[in-house]
Amino acid sequence: MQAQQIVVLATGGTIAGRAARAGDVLGYRAGEVGVAELLAGLPAPEGVVVTGEQVAQVDSKDMDFALWRRLAERCRHWLQQPQVRAVVVTHGTDTLEETAWFLQRVLAPAKPVVLASAMRPASAPVPDGPQNIADAFTVATTPGARGVVAVCAGEVHGAADVRKVHPYRLDAFGSGDAGPIAYVEADAVRQLRPWPAPPESAGLFERVAREKQWPWIEIVHSHAGADGRAVQALVAAGVQGLVVATTGNGTVHAALEQALLRAKEQGVPVVRSSRCLEGPVIAQSRDALPASPLTPAKARVELLLSLLA
Ligand code: SIN
Repeated sequence: MQAQQIVVLATGGTIAGRAARAGDVLGYRAGEVGVAELLAGLPAPEGVVVTGEQVAQVDSKDMDFALWRRLAERCRHWLQQPQVRAVVVTHGTDTLEETAWFLQRVLAPAKPVVLASAMRPASAPVPDGPQNIADAFTVATTPGARGVVAVCAGEVHGAADVRKVHPYRLDAFGSGDAGPIAYVEADAVRQLRPWPAPPESAGLFERVAREKQWPWIEIVHSHAGADGRAVQALVAAGVQGLVVATTGNGTVHAALEQALLRAKEQGVPVVRSSRCLEGPVIAQSRDALPASPLTPAKARVELLLSLLA
């Protein structure tokens, strides 16, 4: 019988970061250390072969659609292999939440796709990346685990809820009021909530792979003193969709709202998403603009995919 396999797809990030001086945990370059070096010395789970593939080597702030497409293709390729138990993606923390939601929607995986990241570069005297990858292996081999999740600092977050909540702390991710799905404790997973269920995604992967030009969608913010000029300029420039990061429960400054309603009349879809750190917008039937329960960055991914569809 063929041994079970975990495939690590490396994309860069701080987890693959290197500084000129070992003690420097801020002045490093993300995406420098190759996947073979990242995996060297890490024990594979019993009975499992771990292999690595370098998909990219970027600072995730520079994530783009071409790389998302390639990553989805490589994940799908490996997930389709019967001997592959799970895919682990090493990724920068800055846009990890967007990639997590993108992969969950496009792949709707029945196997685990575990995003592993780090807040200290690989060259740090005490890097957190190796432990996070080891924890990702633990999640990857947990019976029943499925869907796209992010593992960092012993916490397992689902793709829909995960968001970066701190710029430099090791436990940099949270799931808002939903809370983590599980904790990794020593080499075991203590599960609190169900694993992410595969969303309806029929044909989405094919469309993502086929369309070379993805829609242009921007996020605008509602805030004190907001007005409609940015929206007018974006519409004039050909924007194809707008997400508004709203105050509170989906509220929008009146001047900005007027411009957004005009944009909608002109055929530009507009989605509201709260800029609050926790909780979804609770939509009401009288709302003129639809609301998303997702964070603004993920609502943008969702709108993008709906336009591709
Ligand atoms: C990145 O997102 O690639 C850099 C920052 C990080 O990984 O923490």
